[in-house]
Formats: sequence, C-alpha cells, structure tokens
Amino acid sequence: MRFSSLAYAACSGLLATTVEAAITLDTSSTDSIKAAASSVAKDMMTFYSGDKPGGTPGLLPGPYFWWEAGAMFGSLIDYWYYTGDTTYNDLVTTALQFQVGPSADYMPPNQTKDEGNDDQGFWGMAVLSAAEAKFPDPPSGQPGWLALGQAVFNTQAPRWDTTTCNGGLRWQIFQFNNGYNYKNAISNGCFFNMAARLGRYTGNQTYLDWADKTWNWVEAIGLASPDYHFYDGTDDTINCTQVNHIEWTYNTGVYLYGAAMMWNATQDAKWQTRITTILKTASIFFVNGVMKEVACEDAGNCDTDQVSFKAHLSRWMAATTKVAPFTAATILPLLTSSATQAVKTCTAGASQSMCGEKWTTGTYDGNGGVGEQMSVLQVIQANLITGAPPPVTANTGGTSKSDPSAGGSQAKTVSLNAITTSDRAGAGILTTVILIAMLSGSWWMSRK
Ligand SMILES: *[C@@H]1O[C@H](CO)[C@@H](O)[C@H](O)[C@H]1NC(C)=O
Ligand SMILES: *[C@@H]1O[C@H](CO)[C@@H](O)[C@H](O)[C@H]1NC(C)=O
Ligand SMILES: *[C@@H]1O[C@H](CO)[C@@H](O)[C@H](O)[C@H]1NC(C)=O
Ligand SMILES: *[C@@H]1O[C@H](CO)[C@@H](O)[C@H](O)[C@H]1NC(C)=O
Repeated sequence: MRFSSLAYAACSGLLATTVEAAITLDTSSTDSIKAAASSVAKDMMTFYSGDKPGGTPGLLPGPYFWWEAGAMFGSLIDYWYYTGDTTYNDLVTTALQFQVGPSADYMPPNQTKDEGNDDQGFWGMAVLSAAEAKFPDPPSGQPGWLALGQAVFNTQAPRWDTTTCNGGLRWQIFQFNNGYNYKNAISNGCFFNMAARLGRYTGNQTYLDWADKTWNWVEAIGLASPDYHFYDGTDDTINCTQVNHIEWTYNTGVYLYGAAMMWNATQDAKWQTRITTILKTASIFFVNGVMKEVACEDAGNCDTDQVSFKAHLSRWMAATTKVAPFTAATILPLLTSSATQAVKTCTAGASQSMCGEKWTTGTYDGNGGVGEQMSVLQVIQANLITGAPPPVTANTGGTSKSDPSAGGSQAKTVSLNAITTSDRAGAGILTTVILIAMLSGSWWMSRK
C-alpha cells in the first residue's frame, strides 16, 4: 500500500498545529513503522533548505559536508522505497540532478577543494539505489540514475593506483587535498559496492571483475583482516605497510552489501562464506542487540560524519537480506532491537521528536542533527524490508538506461594540471604529521 500524497499532506498539516509527541514504534505494525519513519524524516529535513528560495539544491549547510547530503538523498530514496510516501521525491530528484557537475559524474567544481572518492561514492550509491528501487526516472534530457552510477564508476576505475601498495584507490581524488596519501577502506569500499551492484544490474562482467579485484586488494593489504574486521586506512608513503585499525560501522556495511550483491550475481560460494564471516564479526557493533559506533560513542567524540555511520550499516544490512536471503535470520532481529531502542532517543527539540546519537542509552543524549536523524530513519525503515520489493536488474524489470561510457575525464585532468608547488608542500606536511601520529600509536583521523 502506498500513501496517497494528498492524504499525507492533509495529515502533516494537522500535525503542524499540534506538538508532535515522542515517537512510538511497534515493529510488528507496518503502519507504525511508516509513521515513525515519516516523523524522523520530517525532522531530518528541517536541516535542509536547498529547496527553499535562495537555497542550493543538494547542499546541506555547514557543518555538513557534501557527501552527507548525498547519503541523505540516498536515505530518502530508501524512504520512498520502503513507505511509498512520495513527499520528498521531487526534492530528491532536483537535488541529485543539480549536483551532477558538468560531466554528469558527481564531480561538481564547487566541491573540488575537498571531494574524495568516498564523497563521490555516496552520491553514486544513492543513484544506484534509485535505479535498483525503480525510483521515478528524472525528466527526459537529464542523466538517468544508472548512467550516473556508471559515470562515477568510470571516473574512479582509472584512479586505481598501482604506483604504491600494489593498487587501491586513494582517499582523495586531487593531489592538493589533505589525505591524498591515504588509501582507505571507505573509498575502496564504495567503489567495490558500486562495481558489484553495476555488475549485478547490467550483467557486465567487467564490473564484477573490478569488484573482485578491489576485494582481493583490500584483503591483501590488510584493510580487511582474515575474519573481516575492516580497518580505516593505510598510508601509501610507507607503501601501506601499517594500518590504522579504527573500525567503523559503515565500512562493515559497505563491504557487506557489496559482497551480498556479488553472491547474488555470481552465486560463487566464496561470497557466501565472506558474508557469513562479516556478519559474525559485525557483532562488535552491537551491545545487547543494539547498534553502537564503538570507536567513539563512549568517549563522546564522534564527529559530524561519524554520527551518521550507523545509518549506512542499517541500510546495507537490510538490503543484504534481499539479495542474500540466507542472512535474514541473523540480520532482521538486530534491526528490530536496534530500531526499538533508537526511537527512545527521539524526544528532543521543538518537535519533541528529534533523535539522539547513542541508541544503547535509550534516551536523548544531547547530540542531534542530520546524521542522528538519518541513522534512526534508516534503522526504523529497515524493519519494512521483508515486505519491500527486491532490487531490480536490467533483466528483472529495471528501466534505468545503461550508458557504459558515461562520465568525463575531468578528474584526471584536474589532478594533473591544477597542482601548484604550495599545494604540494601543504599535502606533504600533512602526510608527515599523519605518519608520525600513526607510528607513535596516537593516530586519529577525522575525515576532513
Ligand atoms: C556552486 O556555488 C555557486 C556559488 O555559491 C552557486 O551559485 C552554485 O549553485 C553552486 N553549484 C552547485 C552545483 O552546488
Ligand atoms: C609495496 O607493497 C606491495 C603490496 O604489499 C608489494 O607488492 C610491493 O613489492 C611493495 N613495494 C616496495 C617497493 O616495497
Ligand atoms: C538474488 O536476489 C533475488 C532478489 O531479491 C532473490 O530472489 C534471490 O533469491 C537471490 N539469489 C540468491 C542466490 O540468493
Ligand atoms: C562493460 O563495462 C565496461 C566498463 O565500463 C565497458 O567498457 C563495456 O563497454 C561494457 N560492455 C557492455 C557490453 O556494455
């Protein structure tokens, strides 16, 4: 059943005249899950003004980086997919199209100063979700969802860098940005995830080969341990001989869903084993069945990016059950217990329904924002996964048009031409600082 947008509009009009109460959630009731998701999405969108006069479509205000907006639009595609509520569809399409950049590959010039492969990847994964969920196609003349995903892949594959560490993607695209020497789990994970999904959707073996190659490199270089702990990253100035061992929920999530897609596309038993092992190790992120960002929640120093990471593990755990159904019995109870506890944090702000960060506490902990809302939204709506349709492919109802040569060569050109001596010096200094911190064991990397 889908919400009629008219009924929804009437309903939200009524709500606006009263104060929204704290959210109730009955995970055995589809209507209750939808109502809770609707409330959390609405509070999340109070942070967005890209659809208002004077706003820029697709951008969140500071302190939110560009990637997080891409992730947020991905969560709203999921919202429509799970609930049928079309409230945000036009706003999402407008935003996803406004940010494509001149070569329609999510390399908008405004973001050059800090766009990494992972940042671009979150927009790429959002449009792949649109293609797989049959989110309404954009107006004709605008690049389609699948082609945009292919364009991101096409700009990233040539960035595979064998000059150090025997391969891998760097964190940063541009040499003048801090972190160019870092080869990290999330950048390679986004690329792996997209390649696997493109391979499954299109049936094109080239994508599957890239996914395989990326996974193998991640394992070989030690960004994944033999039991699939995923570690944050490694430094190419020391040829990736040491690894920063911080573990984040979203890394586990991005590899889990890519592996599930590879299983679905190839039915090679090695992927089934990998999925099972990832899930076993993912237990480090659950305390009494409730998801927790263990690297920073207790210390209370999760940054603006990190408070959103549970959104992505929630999103990809749920999606995994669709393409690797043998995981459902393990995954679904964790999504239910996490959602039940997560909504208890949603008692703050003018709406009295803004969510907090630390689900295990079961109360609002003083931290609210886009990342907190997105995380709670994703874990709530994940509880609708059983009734949701499977992600389509070109052969099973997918309508988004393939363009295997989409995307520009802008990335390479800019990185070769736009680097000045002072930029180089800047990057070099940062690297030295990182290297010393890493060797002295006090390594901590915030994304920006
Ligand atoms: C880039 O920045 C300019 C100036 O702020 C703005 O007018 C434009 O809309 C931005 N473009 C995108 C794609 O965000
Ligand atoms: C750098 O690391 C890669 C991968 O471990 C290895 O194959 C290569 O031989 C190393 N290169 C040097 C110069 O040590
Ligand atoms: C692949 O995904 C489809 C769609 O969700 C599902 O029906 C099928 O069982 C999956 N295949 C395998 C081998 O798990
Ligand atoms: C498969 O994908 C590769 C990589 O993007 C592309 O070069 C090739 O043309 C594609 N093949 C087909 C048949 O679409």
